[in-house]
Amino acid sequence: MLKFNNVTKRFPDGTEAIRNISLQVPRGQFCVVLGPSGAGKSTLLRMLNGLSSPTEGEVMLDDEQITGKSVSRLRRKVATVHQQFNLTPRMSVALNVLSGALPQVSHWRAGIGLFPAALREKACRLLDEVGLTPEHLPRRVSELSGGQQQRVGIARAFMMDPAVLLADEPVASLDPRISRGILQLLHRQSRNHGTTVLCSLHQPELAREFGDRIVAVSQGRLVFDGTPAQLTDSVCEDLYHGTLNRHHEEPKAAVPVSVPSLEMAIA
Ligand SMILES: Nc1ncnc2c1ncn2[C@@H]1O[C@H](COP(=O)(O)OP(=O)(O)OP(=O)(O)O)[C@@H](O)[C@H]1O
Ligand SMILES: [Mg+2]
Repeated sequence: MLKFNNVTKRFPDGTEAIRNISLQVPRGQFCVVLGPSGAGKSTLLRMLNGLSSPTEGEVMLDDEQITGKSVSRLRRKVATVHQQFNLTPRMSVALNVLSGALPQVSHWRAGIGLFPAALREKACRLLDEVGLTPEHLPRRVSELSGGQQQRVGIARAFMMDPAVLLADEPVASLDPRISRGILQLLHRQSRNHGTTVLCSLHQPELAREFGDRIVAVSQGRLVFDGTPAQLTDSVCEDLYHGTLNRHHEEPKAAVPVSVPSLEMAIA
């Protein structure tokens, strides 16, 4: 379970990017974060990977306090998929994916490309899962299309078996058809690996299609929390006009979450 408890983020210039947000995301849930530009989506996500820390309140992951922990400590548990992919363009696809395992490889080994065989096998398996082929392995990332680069970014994100995956507008620079393919892939990967996803998007229709749950922020406040069916056109209109300021109750019925290990335990 991921928990934000009364979290506020105030920047030194006085901007309150997040205002007293409390949110609980169960393990394995695909939670989409919507909101107009400047609403605080990225700030909310960055408090989970150590790039930002709350001014007030706390963030917990599986009952462990992660408030204020460093990026390097959190990298073992929280992976990030970026809008601009954040890959190393001149490096091969294989090395970019392997770089996702850097927290568990000594620097000198990584520096000369000596990744253990088990990690190399894992990188190949993940590349296969994201739909790339062995012939992509030696190619420079800069030679791939945007959609293929994001597939590399997703494979890299799963190298450390993260408990949480943050995706900050992962399809903002891709065309609509490719965007759906990438979200389908993210959704499938998170289901298969039992990973909790927090994914910010600008497209309500994609949020409805892929979110198990949708939350929306506006001016740093949580203004909506519900199922895709509850995100009606009129809610969206109010959200983007800045007139949605009521906090919708969390759905009483649990949002369906499919976690393979859970299903296996029940079977
Ligand atoms: N380092 C900073 N210093 C001061 N203000 C900041 C800083 N980073 C973000 N902000 C402000 O915090 C608010 C929330 O920004 P944030 O980037 O989280 O919004 P967002 O919802 O991700 O927007 P977008 O959809 O455009 O990516 C904005 O008003 C932004 O200007
Ligand atoms: Mg943002």
